Amino acid sequence: MNYHIKDAVLADTGVLRTEWANQSMPVLNRVRERFEREKPLAGVRVGACLHVTTETASLMRTLKSGGAEINLCASNPLSTQDDVAACLVKEYDIPVFAIKGEDTTTYYQHIHSVLDNHPIITMDDGADLVATLHSQRTDLLKGVIGGTEETTTGIIRLRSMAEKGALKYPIIAVNDANTKHLFDNRYGTGQSTIDGIIRATNRLLAGSTFVVCGYGMCGRGVAMRARGMGANVIVTEVKPILALEAVMDGFRVMPIAEAAPIGDFFCTLTGDLRVITIEHFLSMKDGAIVSNSGHFNVELDLENLQDKATSRRMIREFVEEFILPNGRRIYVLGEGRLINLAAAEGHPSSVMDMSFANQALAVEYIAKKGQSFDKKVYPIPPEIDEEIAQLKLASMGISIDTLTEEQEKYIRSWEMGT
Ligand code: ADE
Repeated sequence: MNYHIKDAVLADTGVLRTEWANQSMPVLNRVRERFEREKPLAGVRVGACLHVTTETASLMRTLKSGGAEINLCASNPLSTQDDVAACLVKEYDIPVFAIKGEDTTTYYQHIHSVLDNHPIITMDDGADLVATLHSQRTDLLKGVIGGTEETTTGIIRLRSMAEKGALKYPIIAVNDANTKHLFDNRYGTGQSTIDGIIRATNRLLAGSTFVVCGYGMCGRGVAMRARGMGANVIVTEVKPILALEAVMDGFRVMPIAEAAPIGDFFCTLTGDLRVITIEHFLSMKDGAIVSNSGHFNVELDLENLQDKATSRRMIREFVEEFILPNGRRIYVLGEGRLINLAAAEGHPSSVMDMSFANQALAVEYIAKKGQSFDKKVYPIPPEIDEEIAQLKLASMGISIDTLTEEQEKYIRSWEMGT
């Protein structure tokens, strides 16, 4: 088996951590049990580009149980858990190409290694696999029936490809399922981002001023959890409706130029580039701690920070100090890469349970129906979304009411008023 991982010796730790995560993934386990019986993915070659975590290991096992032949690479150079990569290779015979801290060249070589296996279904988190396939490996496109995409940033890229007629096969937008973005993006990013910042710095949030850039689902999760830890939270946002929501959720809202001189912590989650510029860095307080939890490492203008800095050094793992000409120290966490996966372990398993149940069911859906789809980005079918919510509630021991026949009839009618 061809693979490229840090060290196979790490497999034992990976097995234990993967088992631990899997205990909190009851919905995915239900899907896996069915896949084992029905083998809906028999012989389907899946090329996956995802964060290589304990939760991803459970997803890979599920697809394999369904009969899929999988190859996995990382969707970010800094998010791989090397013990999980080793566990997948050694314990589950799943080829992995991923090493934490790999450089950009190796990162793309790993994507090519996955593509070398001629996937007929792609699974992506950020659309780097799809972009590489559509730009450098176009010979493989004719063999692909469809793909799935995990994250907001990836969906934006893919929609732009579809609008320009560049997308050559259908994609299911896993991110857009309610059971994905309402939970993973908000509660998952909320908790894991704060976890990453605390693991990296060991600093107290209570009483600090914490600036959250972007009030999409991810930003609101971080703002909510930072407030829960006692921080005074400031939100910056470009969309008026989201900004208004932040105001009515009780946060201070202002432009980043006004927030820069008063923040102690900064975290970007916008999906866009140069949200924090060199002018903002120059106006920050001495000791400001700056991180990103958006998909790509483009939200902080690190190039200009590096250029302007009079010195830089690593203070502790994931904390780099830059001294500016004004004498102030700025601390950048995790190279400006998503801090929740760089310094912590990503979203907790219980929330990835729903995201990855969506992924598994989306792959099955594509395998069954992909051939009949147009070259567009499709939502997850609402029945799948609902089923996942129901299974999750059941796994939590929570039952809910159902409509009576009379109520059902009433909401479908228009005749009856007051
Ligand atoms: N994205 C965010 N958290 C993740 C996790 N734990 N596993 C895989 N992808 C993730």
